[in-house]
Amino acid sequence: MKTIQVNASRSYDVIIGNELLQNLGNFLLSVCKRKCKVAIVSDSNVWPLYGNTVEKSLADSGFQVVNFVFQAGESSKNANTYFEIQNFLAENRITRSDLLIALGGGVVGDMTGFVAATYLRGVSYVQIPTTLLAMVDSSVGGKTAINLPAGKNLVGAFNQPALVLCDLDALSTLPDSIFRDGCAEIIKYGVIYDADLFAHLAEQGLVFDREYVIARCVELKKKVVAEDEFDTGARQMLNFGHTIGHGIEAQSEFAISHGQAVAIGMAIVAKAGCREIYDRLISVLKKFGLPTTTEFTAEQLYKSALSDKKRAGGTVNLIVPTTIGNCAIVPTNVLELKSFIEEGL
Ligand code: GLY
Repeated sequence: MKTIQVNASRSYDVIIGNELLQNLGNFLLSVCKRKCKVAIVSDSNVWPLYGNTVEKSLADSGFQVVNFVFQAGESSKNANTYFEIQNFLAENRITRSDLLIALGGGVVGDMTGFVAATYLRGVSYVQIPTTLLAMVDSSVGGKTAINLPAGKNLVGAFNQPALVLCDLDALSTLPDSIFRDGCAEIIKYGVIYDADLFAHLAEQGLVFDREYVIARCVELKKKVVAEDEFDTGARQMLNFGHTIGHGIEAQSEFAISHGQAVAIGMAIVAKAGCREIYDRLISVLKKFGLPTTTEFTAEQLYKSALSDKKRAGGTVNLIVPTTIGNCAIVPTNVLELKSFIEEGL
């Protein structure tokens, strides 16, 4: 088991190991009083797998437990579900001294974190990510949000959790395609920050050392969150492959998953911006069964990239690798963006 402390506006531990869910009650005693009420938010995929284990562990440790389970999927990450959860908490008399738990992947974590930021003007919450992507990215660093019809994550808050528990056993029930989605994000960490991590992934492929890789990604994220919690500078590096990736997701009406779209986005940026690493990146993405090309045109991807949240006026900050393990934030005029994408296709 590994414990990594994240120091942001709130400090908290990220614990990575096996059999954490069975011992959840013990872990919670470090962040909440034994008699507090715990409201678990989960989805229809995850709750049937782990709901009983989690409820039993919490009851054994003396917690009172209620749960809210919503339909799994990105389409639930909206204002309706958000208000349903808020009403559920109010009806169950959850107070500021109680605790919320997000048990699931990125949708559950983002939704619960945003509910926790606003219910009674703020209650504590714990992230229990059950997907690889949520373990290495969305559960750490306090970004929480829901979607609007106009786009993804347009309403949200920075709200750091009180604790993050990454139970490696949860990865064993993940569908292959969801696991590979998370692999795109760990490859991203290798490219932008860590040549040794990249080399490990290139050598091991899908049988990489899960505890080492997840802990390394969390260490890397912890550093950047401590430096730039509110995403005005260095944290933007985590956006490598995402500006174009979000465009691919949107153009496909979300038929192409986030991880697949980020993989293609990284390949396009590397081809246009850093030919030295392109071949190595493509070979690792292929080893993980991730796509590297798209049928969408530069015009289509350019239009979607213009609605990127990180656009500032006429400039989009592209994250461009310089070598494996290093990258730069390159402010790019939107007039040059289309030809950049054309070069990368
Ligand atoms: N998912 C990117 C970030 O946390 O900044």
